[in-house]
Amino acid sequence: PKPLRLGIAGLGTVGTGTVKIIQNHAALLSKRAGRPIAITAVSARDRHRNRDIDLSDYAWEADARVLAAREDIDVFVELIGGDEGIAREAMTIALKAGKDVVTANKALLAIHGQELAELAEANGRLIRFEAAVAGGIPVIKAMTESLAGNQIRRVMGVMNGTCNYILTRMENAGLPYAEVFEEARKLGYLEADPTLDVGGIDASHKLTLLASIAFGTKPAFNAVEIEGIERVSIDDIRRAADMGYRIKLLGVAQMTARGLEQRMSPCLVPADSPLGQLQGGTNMIVVEGDSVGQIVLRGAGAGEGPTASAVMSDVIEIARNVRLPVFGQPASTLLSSQAARTAVP
Ligand code: NDP
Ligand code: HSE
Repeated sequence: PKPLRLGIAGLGTVGTGTVKIIQNHAALLSKRAGRPIAITAVSARDRHRNRDIDLSDYAWEADARVLAAREDIDVFVELIGGDEGIAREAMTIALKAGKDVVTANKALLAIHGQELAELAEANGRLIRFEAAVAGGIPVIKAMTESLAGNQIRRVMGVMNGTCNYILTRMENAGLPYAEVFEEARKLGYLEADPTLDVGGIDASHKLTLLASIAFGTKPAFNAVEIEGIERVSIDDIRRAADMGYRIKLLGVAQMTARGLEQRMSPCLVPADSPLGQLQGGTNMIVVEGDSVGQIVLRGAGAGEGPTASAVMSDVIEIARNVRLPVFGQPASTLLSSQAARTAVP
């Protein structure tokens, strides 16, 4: 059978991890996908950076936009990041050039997802983004495939590992926010712009994507009410513990009598609940469906291996010719927040 030919743009944490899986598991992937998975070309900023992987078999493209349009790729794998600029441009080019797209870029999809989904559909292409939400946890496939028969009541969870690390470390070591923030910075946990983590923005990007799939709404990052963890004090954490609670940066999306509600904020959760028990950089997503009841998914929300694992699940799905709408239903049928409000009984 013909190989599925990938162009991978971005060879940082996630890109490197993806290349490693393809190189280390070639035979396994080929069997599972029903055909070989081949990398044709790659792109990053610095060609000479040592990435600890052998790239000599692949063509190098200095410009990801050129890679996106290459005739000898079937799938454009976008692992650069950013809600504007090169990632958005290259993805647009790829879809127009008839390539399917796999991405880990929650910021781009939370803000421009509707327009990109419409473009993908107009060109008969796919965008798959399992890695964009909660890293290695297969929540996108759970919601678009395994739970597709449910009316989702609520989706919530801890979606930023860095914030969960900071909050649990503050409680366990009795340290103030500023000190643990510095510790997290030194450990390399924080995004280049730490506000994305501690300001709740990264987690809200993820919540936006989950809400769209859960409720059939256009992804609307601007509609999320966001409060980060910057003002959580050690006294808040102690008082919560005295009452049997823990403070978590919790994202909640639910359809209420007032319409779709999307909130990201520090919340009290019972210390002995699954969310309360979540320690360190781990993520947890809780999905409640009318037939299935409550599902709890827990695992690594970031890192080379877990995130690349999710990227590969999308690549394999495309190789198997599983062709699903971007947000679980055709983009033209997604409701605006306003329409979703009026659709509430
Ligand atoms: P990194 O910063 O580690 O890697 C980014 C890569 O993009 C680098 O290889 C960089 O090149 C390349 N790059 C930057 N600008 C350009 C450009 N103009 N043209 C071509 N390549 C460029 O990021 P991550 O791997 O951590 O993240 C990638 C994506 O995955 C992001 O969308 C992120 O949000 C998402 N993600 C990341 C997770 C994680 O655990 N890291 C978890 C879940 C999602 P160079 O190496 O030469 O500098
Ligand atoms: N900064 C993010 C986190 C990385 O801490 O969860 C994964 O999206």
